[in-house]
Amino acid sequence: MCKNLDSTLLQTLTSTISDVVAEHVLHVLVTGGAGYIGSHAALLLLENGYRVTALDNLSRGNVGAIHVLQQNAIPGRFNFIKTDLSDLEDLHSVFSKNTFDVVMHFAGFAYVGESMEEPLMYFQQNTGNVVNLLDAMRVHNVNKFIYSSTCATYGDHDEMPITEETVQVPVNPYGRSKKLAEEIIKDYSDSNPQFSAAILRYFNVIGSDPQGRLGESPLPQYRKFGRITGACIDATLGRCDSIKIFGSNFPTHDGTCVRDYVHVSDLVDAHLAALKQLRPGAVQIFNVGTGKGVSVREFIAAWIKVTGKQVKVEVHKEKRPGDYSEVYCNPSKIEEELKWKAKFTNLEDSLATAWNWHKAHPNGYAVTDEISNGKQNYDEARQNL
Ligand SMILES: NC(=O)c1ccc[n+]([C@@H]2O[C@H](COP(=O)([O-])OP(=O)(O)OC[C@H]3O[C@@H](n4cnc5c(N)ncnc54)[C@H](O)[C@@H]3O)[C@@H](O)[C@H]2O)c1
Repeated sequence: MCKNLDSTLLQTLTSTISDVVAEHVLHVLVTGGAGYIGSHAALLLLENGYRVTALDNLSRGNVGAIHVLQQNAIPGRFNFIKTDLSDLEDLHSVFSKNTFDVVMHFAGFAYVGESMEEPLMYFQQNTGNVVNLLDAMRVHNVNKFIYSSTCATYGDHDEMPITEETVQVPVNPYGRSKKLAEEIIKDYSDSNPQFSAAILRYFNVIGSDPQGRLGESPLPQYRKFGRITGACIDATLGRCDSIKIFGSNFPTHDGTCVRDYVHVSDLVDAHLAALKQLRPGAVQIFNVGTGKGVSVREFIAAWIKVTGKQVKVEVHKEKRPGDYSEVYCNPSKIEEELKWKAKFTNLEDSLATAWNWHKAHPNGYAVTDEISNGKQNYDEARQNL
């Protein structure tokens, strides 16, 4: 009879049986698994033998990223669920039907400019949905949580570098929505001694999978809010005619904003390190960055060097609303306690990973899913998941 089993089914059965017979394989729920950072985290978890369920409403994520995860998973180890975290009934149903050991929460909205225009939406998405998720975890007795926070919770400080003790005074609704979520996590932890959490405050995330499987590809309608890498890519690929610098009078060495750029592979490694050291009753907080500040002008110069393409750079004196001059971290806490250290310390190396993916995928994820061969358009592909 075995002869008649198709090889994929056989592999799935073998993997499921060995999971049951051998040790328990940790099952991680990755919210926002179709997004930039969530998809990279899901891939790393799969490569490290975890079972992963990616949950995403696809409002901002990419179907193509889910396809890449499916292709790179051992059969039976990866599942995708299309659900909105604000739909409590759906969320509880997901937790009823699955046994999760850990939740890594990446789903959220992450554009400072958009948060200035639509603050309530940011509090609903970034703060309200954390309450929903923690409540589903409480009801279904899931007690390990890793949260994507941000350096935007610190706000604008004169004293650098930022440590975990630096007072958090966010200056925009995005930062405030994430800081409030941190408070909620701490309050919930106080009520549940079984609960263990890590809050990772990311600095500015760049780059993509060095093997070129995943990339950063915001949906076209959100590019206007986009981050610096997106602006460089759009100008280099001719989607717009220049890279625009907003703010040239900041009190920094060249007048442009200074940020700490951490590579996405390093960032997701930090999640794995944090997961391994979760402690019941504790909410551990770590900055995740390189400890080095880089100005916008320096970033663009490195980008031009990596791509070898000349692009027009337009400098606008006016800063974008909600932006502030300088932020970089002191990463010694995470280095000492989790033995994590950024491996990508050369900006050009980091940017090369992003450029390589975009060179291979000039239409973003469109070339990796059904759109490329004309079978269906992007919206149909999303509907069919
Ligand atoms: N990218 C950065 O530089 C950066 C820096 C600091 C912190 N962060 C945090 O990291 C997290 C991930 O950021 P990203 O850059 O990968 O963003 P992203 O937009 O690429 O990914 C977020 C994903 O969450 C999904 N999502 C959003 N709302 C949802 C909902 N209600 N229900 C289900 N899914 C939903 C989106 O469809 C998307 O796939 C965010 O929480 C963000 O605040 C990002």
